[in-house]
Amino acid sequence: MEASEPQPKSGPTVPIPEQQQPQEQQIDPWSVDAGKDSQGNALAFDYVAISKKWNTQLIDEKLLERFTKLTGHKPHRWLRRGLFFSHRDFDKVLDTYERGESFFLYTGRGPSSGSMHIGHTIPFEFTKWLQDVFDVPCVIMLTDDEKALFRESLTFEQAMEFSMENARDIIAVGFDPKKTFIYSDLKYFSNHFLMNAWEFSKLLTFNQVRGAFGFNESTNTGRIFFPSLQCAAAFATSYPELWSDVPSATRSETVAKMQCLIPMAIDQDAYFRLLRDNCHRMARPGPKPALIHSRFLTALQGVGGKMSSSNPNSAIFMSDTPAQIKKKINRYAFSGGRETLEEHREFGGNPDIDVTYQYLTYFEEDDAKIQGIAEAYRAGTLTTGDLKKECITLLQEYVNGYQTRRKEVTDEVLELYMKPRKLEWGRSHTKTHN
Ligand code: TYM
Ligand code: TRP
Repeated sequence: MEASEPQPKSGPTVPIPEQQQPQEQQIDPWSVDAGKDSQGNALAFDYVAISKKWNTQLIDEKLLERFTKLTGHKPHRWLRRGLFFSHRDFDKVLDTYERGESFFLYTGRGPSSGSMHIGHTIPFEFTKWLQDVFDVPCVIMLTDDEKALFRESLTFEQAMEFSMENARDIIAVGFDPKKTFIYSDLKYFSNHFLMNAWEFSKLLTFNQVRGAFGFNESTNTGRIFFPSLQCAAAFATSYPELWSDVPSATRSETVAKMQCLIPMAIDQDAYFRLLRDNCHRMARPGPKPALIHSRFLTALQGVGGKMSSSNPNSAIFMSDTPAQIKKKINRYAFSGGRETLEEHREFGGNPDIDVTYQYLTYFEEDDAKIQGIAEAYRAGTLTTGDLKKECITLLQEYVNGYQTRRKEVTDEVLELYMKPRKLEWGRSHTKTHN
């Protein structure tokens, strides 16, 4: 048994006494900032420190070797390159798979705008890959309730419309319709889901939620309840219709025992620390939900922030045109190159802080090519201009492929994914009829 996972001290109200004070990195579901050094310069995230502070496991070679042996698949490039860098109990998920049992994937999106940016697609692309590799079902939660509660100007109706638009984006990632259920919170919540959420909320005190999210006495009560909903979504028993034609039977022990794996960027971890610390107190506990965490795709402006929809110039959106992508990369992408071409040729650039290079590491599949680019950039033989050109082509292709698939998402296709129905997958070992 592991020790209780420490909660972050995310008090947004803590005053910074002096401007020159080094500022600690701050990560929660609503704000992400790597902090500043004593000169006031933006720092890069220290992901190893985050993992240590929150007591997560770093993904290492040994784990990846076991993954390969077990599944016969080469680890995804985001695993090979440490972009998915941390986990909780992913090894237990591998145990489950090794025993020939099923588990299910759960991830989500807070529909705050009509179009997702390329950073948002990362957990979804990765989840789809996991679905293909393990041949398992997947549920995708669209938290329109959350976004309307947290954005002053967003109505519940608007958030629900964004859910539908974002569902199309997510379908375009290519999830298998037989194995995937996508839902809007505001439309779907009922019976078993709500029962689990209320049962879970009964176990959580205001103190615990405040500790995890930095709420205070003036926080609206919807926000205080919401974490129980995002958590209850990790219980298989919340979705009776997906596992059986006999929904009434599905608060059974067998379904409750179904392991859940949640891919996400590390900002969502706060919810699932609460979940993992308290789920054993449910009436019929199952295994603790497992997590796998990614780094943030950085904002165009540089390391230390994350790509964010609230700042359109920080992000490449899945709805951007090829010309917009080109302009954004050329104009805004922070460069690790030198001031002048002569200096660059002489001293070389720094790929580690170069945003264009960072994006290449996400989207270029060829490991040898990436390594070659880094070396040439360091040596100064490759310029920022060359690097940007490479990246622009790659991102234009990625976004274009996506837009083409999204056009094929008709109303009928959308309805298919969003209909609660029995999912079908290869290893349907979970018996649900007892
Ligand atoms: P949201 O909409 O803020 O983000 C959706 C998913 O994208 C991740 N993400 C990023 N990943 C890489 N680089 C970035 N720059 C970046 N920005 C965001 C988020 O971590 C998330 O995985 N409350 C959630 C919705 C949700 C959820 C979940 C997410 C409900 N249940 C379970 C993950 C797992 C939200 O508002 O996500
Ligand atoms: N025990 C609850 C139920 O049976 C919810 C539940 C399902 C659960 N799966 C779980 C709790 C996994 C903890 C871990 O309805």
